Amino acid sequence: MGSVLLTGGTGFIGSHTAVELLLAGRDVVLLDDLSNSEAGVAERIGRIAGRQPPFVRADAADRRALRRVFLDWDIEAVVHFAGFKAVGESAARPLAYYRNNLDSALSLLETMAEFGCRRFIFSSSATVYGERCPVPYREDMPAGDCSSPYGRTKYMIEEILKDAAAADGSLSVVLLRYFNPIGAHESGLIGEKPSGIPNNLMPYITQVAAGLRPRLNVFGNDYPTRDGTCVRDYIHVTDLARGHLAALGFAEAHRGTEIFNLGTGRGFSVLEVVRAFGEATGQPVPFEFAPRRPGDLPEFYADASKAEAVLGWRAEKSLADMCRDSWRWQQNALKQD
Ligand code: WQD
Repeated sequence: MGSVLLTGGTGFIGSHTAVELLLAGRDVVLLDDLSNSEAGVAERIGRIAGRQPPFVRADAADRRALRRVFLDWDIEAVVHFAGFKAVGESAARPLAYYRNNLDSALSLLETMAEFGCRRFIFSSSATVYGERCPVPYREDMPAGDCSSPYGRTKYMIEEILKDAAAADGSLSVVLLRYFNPIGAHESGLIGEKPSGIPNNLMPYITQVAAGLRPRLNVFGNDYPTRDGTCVRDYIHVTDLARGHLAALGFAEAHRGTEIFNLGTGRGFSVLEVVRAFGEATGQPVPFEFAPRRPGDLPEFYADASKAEAVLGWRAEKSLADMCRDSWRWQQNALKQD
């Protein structure tokens, strides 16, 4: 068997996926330009997995660098995590988002065609369902009604990949639509490291618990949900990572494009997450209600039944596990700084 190329391999989801693939006996090559992660992550992946994967520092849109990788290793599949991912920033810098995210997908497809690599697993997002889809989201619902340029880059890349697979019957494309990944590896060695003020809920909560920020702003308490705060499908990043292992196995036996939701199928409100964090860690999270954040949908969660039926995968970890592992990582990350 050849190697699996992980673009964004030292990022949050890429690093956890690298660990799970290595532990399952797969060889991986990590590619990352370190624009939103650190080189030390590659070494820590190796420490957890008991073997060190090769790391290449390069931009996933850089065709010369990609050719080098495909010449140096027998790449049998690509899992494409690399990309800009801040929703708010994408509205301020749309061209940078379209250029960066679309270019890397195209460069990878062109390089794969040149080297006869036929399997492409893509990090997509539940954001492609948009506000018109009823919950729970199912893979066969019409997508594309995204609320940000970031979301539109995900949807556009999905469409590019579908077209590429339709034109080339030997290509196997798997689109994985992630819900809200949180948590960290239970070793406390790898996790999410936002730069600056966190945009996402869990990194903000752990920074409040660590005393780095005075309180959490809960964006909106008048949504039509059970307690007025938004509901999301939070999934442990290790469960999510294992979903990629299952998707790789699927891609080996199939052709064409297949879409899978990677979520738990269960939603929790912001206040439920705050409460679960306090109970799981013993750390209170002071909060106050703040105005709604533009673009937030009241409630969404996955219908996770297709991934279970077809891939034999489902999320196993609880919200308490997610909170404990996020908190352990926050404490470790602080020690490293
Ligand atoms: C969750 C809930 C907030 C911060 C986004 C992207 C998605 C994916 C993951 C990845 C919401 C509330 C948050 C805070 C709060 N992108 N909140 N106070 O918006 O569901 O998903 O991140 O690359 O595509 O859209 O996740 O964690 O930002 O927010 O009250 O300080 O927490 O309003 O209801 P979201 P989130």
